[in-house]
Amino acid sequence: MRDPKLNILFEPLEMPNLTLKNRFFMAPMGTTFAIEHQTPDYLAARARGGVALITYGELCVHPSGKAIAGDEPSLDKDSDIVRFRPIVTAVHDAGAKIIAQLNHAGRYSFGRHTGRQAVAPSPIASRYTGETPRELTTGETDGMVMAFAEAALRARKTGFDGIEFCACSGYLISQFLSAVTNKREDRYGGSDILARAEFLFDILRQTRALVGNDFNICVKFDAEDGMEGGKTLEDALLLAPKLVETGADRLHVWAGWHEAVRPMLPPSVPRGAFSYLSRAIRKVVNVPVSTVGRINDPYVAADILARGDADLIGLGRPLLCDPDFVRKTEEGRTREIRRCTACCYCFDQIFKLVMAGDLDAKIACALNPELGHEGEGLIQPAALKKKVLVIGGGPAGTEVARVAALRGHDVILYEKDDKLGGMLNLALVPPHKEELKNIIDYYTAQMDILPVKVILNKAFTDKVIKELHPDVVVLATGATPLIPPIPGIGGTNVVTALDVLGRKVSVGENIVVIGGGLIGIETAEYLADQGKNVTVVEMLKSVAADVGPSLRWGLISRISKKVAIRTSTTVVEVKETAVVVADQDNATTEIRADTVVLAVGLKAGGNLCSALEQSGVEYYKIGCCSEPGQIVDAVAGAFALACRL
Ligand SMILES: Cc1cc2nc3c(=O)[nH]c(=O)nc-3n(C[C@H](O)[C@H](O)[C@H](O)COP(=O)(O)OP(=O)(O)OC[C@H]3O[C@@H](n4cnc5c(N)ncnc54)[C@H](O)[C@@H]3O)c2cc1C
Ligand SMILES: Cc1cc2nc3c(=O)[nH]c(=O)nc-3n(C[C@H](O)[C@H](O)[C@H](O)COP(=O)(O)O)c2cc1C
Ligand code: SF4
Repeated sequence: MRDPKLNILFEPLEMPNLTLKNRFFMAPMGTTFAIEHQTPDYLAARARGGVALITYGELCVHPSGKAIAGDEPSLDKDSDIVRFRPIVTAVHDAGAKIIAQLNHAGRYSFGRHTGRQAVAPSPIASRYTGETPRELTTGETDGMVMAFAEAALRARKTGFDGIEFCACSGYLISQFLSAVTNKREDRYGGSDILARAEFLFDILRQTRALVGNDFNICVKFDAEDGMEGGKTLEDALLLAPKLVETGADRLHVWAGWHEAVRPMLPPSVPRGAFSYLSRAIRKVVNVPVSTVGRINDPYVAADILARGDADLIGLGRPLLCDPDFVRKTEEGRTREIRRCTACCYCFDQIFKLVMAGDLDAKIACALNPELGHEGEGLIQPAALKKKVLVIGGGPAGTEVARVAALRGHDVILYEKDDKLGGMLNLALVPPHKEELKNIIDYYTAQMDILPVKVILNKAFTDKVIKELHPDVVVLATGATPLIPPIPGIGGTNVVTALDVLGRKVSVGENIVVIGGGLIGIETAEYLADQGKNVTVVEMLKSVAADVGPSLRWGLISRISKKVAIRTSTTVVEVKETAVVVADQDNATTEIRADTVVLAVGLKAGGNLCSALEQSGVEYYKIGCCSEPGQIVDAVAGAFALACRL
């Protein structure tokens, strides 16, 4: 039964030229999925999952507006119309409406990949691309206005239910809106926001002239662009009513540029953080206003609507992670939602594409291995039902158990601890890591719902094999801390990061953490937040080298304010009250340390292998037990194995 508090999410919404069955829409996300082979299935899966409206984006309106090389989706010529029609049909057949997000990258076009210098309102260098664009001539700006309007007409001819102009995130239209990037002296420049918005107003006017008044037009814009000297909420409050006056049927409020200094996507951003912006905009316009950003929980979404902060809720990554988010909410199955943790692994793939020009980089989700493979039917009923014994209830073990059970196998899972989740129970302890609990909650619910027999508080021994006679054993027992061979490492003042996070040991006031990878850095921050005096010693040139680019900069800027970091430095000895370190020139110094915390890596488990080999039973190792890595490795490996068992 659905909680009545969530009913507000399922009220239909009528807006000019478009009626929606509920209050959820899928936010635009450039994906790198093949237009013909992957995208129709990918979007149809989200439509079947209950979302009322899908924003397909971004579609480029002009060849000069492509961000990268390769087959970037575009509506810049009439022949594109037939190309995108199957996507529209697939979404309509699956029960949702679909609009096209139209964009021009402007100075966010990577000239080094496209082979063409980027164009922009003014020649202001971009921190995002590291390149300087050339200024559009007045004639060219007229051409750009027409390019947006003509692409909108093509969207209409394709069968899209509307369009959204991408006037956010630092792309061309937002470059015109900002005083930082628009220094023009013609009719598209000026000292106030409404003067700089003339480019967007012209696009709206020209589009209305081409598509008519009976086609839904939305504008996605930053109510604050997060840039020093950039667009403020005050500007946005002036802009919003004018956008409506000029032809917008809906406003989609976002929060900043790729170059912005404030974070927008990481888990350190609170859930629903940007609804204060849509609330402000909603007060000054009479059309529906959407919010988006870190809404990974239906209750957060319902609260936003109930407070009157927005009319529509945008889901970006939460729908990558679970295409059935909306349907599960509607059916009162919220516990079954695989909630996005905001880990940004998906966005890191986009970074690989745009920064390194790696055209093979495909977006992927750390928790949803089926993303981008929706049409492939990867989970098929097993031809032969087997008794599968899974050892270990971390992400790898529970994922293999989930998929094996879905395929009809008889699954038993042994976990030596009193709860599922494995190392995630420690990983969620440092600051801003609480979203990892979503993963534990999801697998705990799946293990309850699916026919998996979970046995907690029981370590696996070879006796179990004799009792159960499994056809297959899957070892998912995780990893153990590496202990480096440093003199003094066996001292009573030396503990592991895992023991610290597990609160199994007490620590002193002055702490040296050996190892500046993810685990070391996060443990250091956790201790610093308790008022400890922490130094991280890392032998590499930089810390957090194993953290993806989307999260790394935020983590490093936080941590460097809280702890001392010594890179290119090696610990050569641990004493009772200090560690001895050597720099690159082998010069040694001492750092005071009441406690030394080890975080130099993990080593794969697998001490059960010999017993399994002797038993002759078919067995596999997955996750950290096979090779220490990240959640994405554990889940992807487990999924792949379970699909072929
Ligand atoms: C502080 C910290 C922060 C982290 N942060 C991140 C992050 O931000 N992003 C990310 O991707 N990864 C992160 N990780 C890594 C992530 O936790 C691991 O990649 C993931 O947990 C590995 O999953 P797994 O199932 O292979 O192993 P584990 O999670 O270690 O699970 C193994 C399970 O097997 C059980 N077990 C062991 N032996 C037996 C036995 N004999 N019988 C029964 N059960 C047994 C254990 O009790 C455990 O529950 C972090 C790790 C730590 C420590
Ligand atoms: C992989 C990825 C690609 C994105 N691409 C676009 C895009 O093409 N256009 C756009 O306006 N926003 C884009 N965004 C931003 C999202 O639309 C959304 O504003 C943001 O992800 C916050 O919502 P979420 O927390 O629900 O993911 C993208 C986000 C991600 C994660
Ligand atoms: S990769 Fe991480 S941030 Fe992206 S959708 Fe999946 S869980 Fe969310």
